[in-house]
Amino acid sequence: MLRVRVPATSANLGPGFDCLGLALDLWLDVRARPADRDRFDYRGEGSLPDSPDNLVHEGFRHAMAALGRAAPTVAIEVDNPIPLARGLGSSSAALVAGAALADAWSGGELTREGVFQLAAALEGHPDNVAPAVFGGFTVSAPRAEGGYATAVLALPPGWRLLFGVPDFDLPTEKARAALPATVDRADAVRTAARSALWALAVARDEPELLRTASLDVLHEPYREALVPGLRDARAALREAGAHAAFLSGAGPTVAAVVGEATEAACRSVLDGFVGPRGRVLTLRSAGGYEAARPRSA
Ligand code: HSE
Repeated sequence: MLRVRVPATSANLGPGFDCLGLALDLWLDVRARPADRDRFDYRGEGSLPDSPDNLVHEGFRHAMAALGRAAPTVAIEVDNPIPLARGLGSSSAALVAGAALADAWSGGELTREGVFQLAAALEGHPDNVAPAVFGGFTVSAPRAEGGYATAVLALPPGWRLLFGVPDFDLPTEKARAALPATVDRADAVRTAARSALWALAVARDEPELLRTASLDVLHEPYREALVPGLRDARAALREAGAHAAFLSGAGPTVAAVVGEATEAACRSVLDGFVGPRGRVLTLRSAGGYEAARPRSA
C-alpha cells in the first residue's frame, strides 16, 4: 500500500496571478493498492462519484505514461477535508497526489521536481501545484524552455492566516472566463511591483508590507461580480487592521493575513462574509506533500 498526503493551498495572494502560492495545514489523504480494476472510494468534502474518472487517477495515469510505464489498475481511497471548488487548491492536491503515487510506485523515478512539472502542466498553471509539492510560500515563473522555475520560502512562523469559505462553489474555468484578455500597462507595472514586494515581505518577515503588496488590479475586480460581498469584506478586513485581504485562488474564499491583535476583529468580518452556512478556517503554513509506504502494507 502507498500513502500520500498533500496540503491545501492558496494561490494568487492578491497580485500574484498564476504565480504566488502558499501551502496550508489541511491535508488530502490518499491510499493506493494494486487491484483487479481501477476503484475509487471517496470520503470528505462534497461528493464525488466512485468512478476512476477523477483527478487522482488522472494524475497517476499521466505520470505513469511520462515514465514510459503502463499504468497498473489501482484501488484508491481518499479522505479529503479540502473544500471543493472554493479556491483552496483541491484539484491541484488531487493531481499532485496521483503523480506522487506514481513516483512512489516507480521507486522515485519521477522525482519531486518531475511531480511538480507534470501536475503543473495538467493543471495549466503552477501557483497551487508548487506549494502543494514544495510547501511554504512559492513563486513560480514559466521557463523559456517550457515548464516552470520555482523558488520556495518558509512563511515566518508568526503569520496568522484566516480563510472565509462561503457555502457556494466557483469553478476555476468560470472565474477565469470573467477576466479580460489584455491588461493595461500601468496595471501590469503595479502588479509586477506588488508581487515582487510580497516575496520580500515574506523573506524579511515584514507583514506590514502586505498592505501594499496584496493589492490586486489584474483579476479580483473582474471576479467581484461572481463573489457577492468580496469588495466589502476586503475593505472591512483592511479597516479591521488585516495586513492583507485577498481572494484565495479563483475564489470564492477570501483570505486574510492578520496579527495577534487584529485576529478577532478580522474573524468577525469573515464570519459576516460567509454567513451562517459558511466557515472560517484558521490555517498554518505547511510543508509539501508526504509519501510513505506504511509498514502494515
Ligand atoms: N491562478 C488561478 C486563477 C488559481 O486565479 O485562476 C486558481 O486555480
